[in-house]
Amino acid sequence: MKATAALLLLGLAALADAQLDWWQKSVIYQVYPRSFKDGGTDGIGDIPGIIEKLDHFVETGIGGVWLSPVFKSPMKDFGYDVSDFREIDPIFGTMADFDALVLGCRARGLKLILDFVPNHSSDEHDWFIRSKAREDPYTDYYTWKDPAGINASGSPIPPNNWLSNFGGPAWTWVEERQQFYLHQFHAGQPDLNYRNPLVVEEMNDILRFWLDKGADGFRLDAVPHLMEDQTFPDEPPSNDPSYGPDQWGSLLHIYTKDQPELYSLIYGFRDVVDQKQGELGRSLVMMVEAYTNITNTMLYYGNGTHVGAHFPFNFELINNLNNNTDAAGLRNVISNWFNYLPSGAWSNWVVGNHDQPRVAGRFGNEFGLSAIILSQLLPGTGVTYNGEEINMENTFISWEDTVDPSGCQAGPDEYWRFSRDPERTPFQWSADSMAGFTAGSTTWLPINENYVTLNLEAQKAAAVSPYKVYQKLTAARRDIIAVQTGEFKMLTLNSNVFAFVREVPSGNPSVLVLVNMDNFVQVVDANPSSTLPAIGTYYTGSLESVYVENEEVSLSSVNLSPRGAAVIIYDALA
Ligand code: GLC
Repeated sequence: MKATAALLLLGLAALADAQLDWWQKSVIYQVYPRSFKDGGTDGIGDIPGIIEKLDHFVETGIGGVWLSPVFKSPMKDFGYDVSDFREIDPIFGTMADFDALVLGCRARGLKLILDFVPNHSSDEHDWFIRSKAREDPYTDYYTWKDPAGINASGSPIPPNNWLSNFGGPAWTWVEERQQFYLHQFHAGQPDLNYRNPLVVEEMNDILRFWLDKGADGFRLDAVPHLMEDQTFPDEPPSNDPSYGPDQWGSLLHIYTKDQPELYSLIYGFRDVVDQKQGELGRSLVMMVEAYTNITNTMLYYGNGTHVGAHFPFNFELINNLNNNTDAAGLRNVISNWFNYLPSGAWSNWVVGNHDQPRVAGRFGNEFGLSAIILSQLLPGTGVTYNGEEINMENTFISWEDTVDPSGCQAGPDEYWRFSRDPERTPFQWSADSMAGFTAGSTTWLPINENYVTLNLEAQKAAAVSPYKVYQKLTAARRDIIAVQTGEFKMLTLNSNVFAFVREVPSGNPSVLVLVNMDNFVQVVDANPSSTLPAIGTYYTGSLESVYVENEEVSLSSVNLSPRGAAVIIYDALA
């Protein structure tokens, strides 16, 4: 059997499914440019730094690179406040650097995905400056409202009780125009007015511009916020005692999020992407970021009449997996996703990004790696946040070092609840000074002190490391057809072990994945109803695993380390 499984592993590359598009077959990897690699000495990552590291993507087995925004920005929200949607910010480089990046990606068969921030611009964008001055056609490019009145001290009262995601009112008064403008995020991020068709056309043109420049698609930012109720009613309290009256969580966002009209905007953006795809003859992708309930999430795929995103990010493992989830709980999270997924829609799995605590921090290193294994082997595209491939941890950031507006606006006592700085610290390339991140002597956020031992170079040199596991996962995605399109079946074993298979007919390798949800070693019968063969071949898994690669594993008694995972290849019963 061992020989059969080994034979099955030979020539796998030939098996990749030619029907699938690149974004279905490849791992999509998020680069947070400020923190990835500094090509200079200012301690802030940039495009020349990314170019230096293009071979890292190839070696790691990544197919698509998504860059968080690199556009011109005053950096009040670190690039998510764009002051010119068609320019590269000098912090990140020049347009020539961008062009070189496109060429570098093309030369390596890598796809480049850009971040598109449709909900708002920067308050320093030319449109906003002209809108403040009521200069047409920009007058109604943003959401402007008269005050609700004047308070006792003579100050204008905001139109309603809406709050910003980062805390405090979602309205800021502009003396020049004698009106408030809406900002669902920082005051430096005024909300664009999508009820104005000119705004829609402007944004469509920006999509076209970057596709013409060589982008292979987009990640659309914060889309549930694109539209608000036109009657501007107060939002009701959430009555959640964990939020103070100024904090976003203190209200139920029934008038500022998930408004039914917004989906047609998304479908419109997809039309633009599709038209360009036809014109450019390149296959493109559109992914959307939407923190919302699962019913709304699925609307981003389309509504039966119109197609939407190729996929909205699946945040179910972020939202619903915790340290107490047992096997049945995880099965529910996963089956819930598939129960809601429209037929024919392509899935995806995300365990972290620049807005979420790192998965290793949430779950510890062992289960963090298990979650990454899940994200790569469950059906659909695996999305990786930079640093996950080496299981980077969250970094403690003091109040003094805090720069994220979401943390800063919460103040010294509560910043740690809201700050996203811990997951944004520089990538740990090596044990060299400054973790190999910069040739300078400072960095925009502190480097995690654990870089001396936790770094890419060390993990490449080690016989067993998160990086080595990650490389096996990306190879599996690329080469094992069962990981791309195999039938997905969850197994019910016991309350501590979550398991599933990705199965193809005998003759090609199928994959069995087991995850120990418990803090103790589990020895489990993975084949209680004899639907699998007796023996499989260990492919990869947690660092503490008792197995080594290519070792024969008896499926009736699989040993799983505490919180660890095992990936086993087998030949399905004929
Ligand atoms: C998205 C981004 C986040 C940003 C926000 C406002 O959620 O991922 O980083 O702060 O939108 O643009």
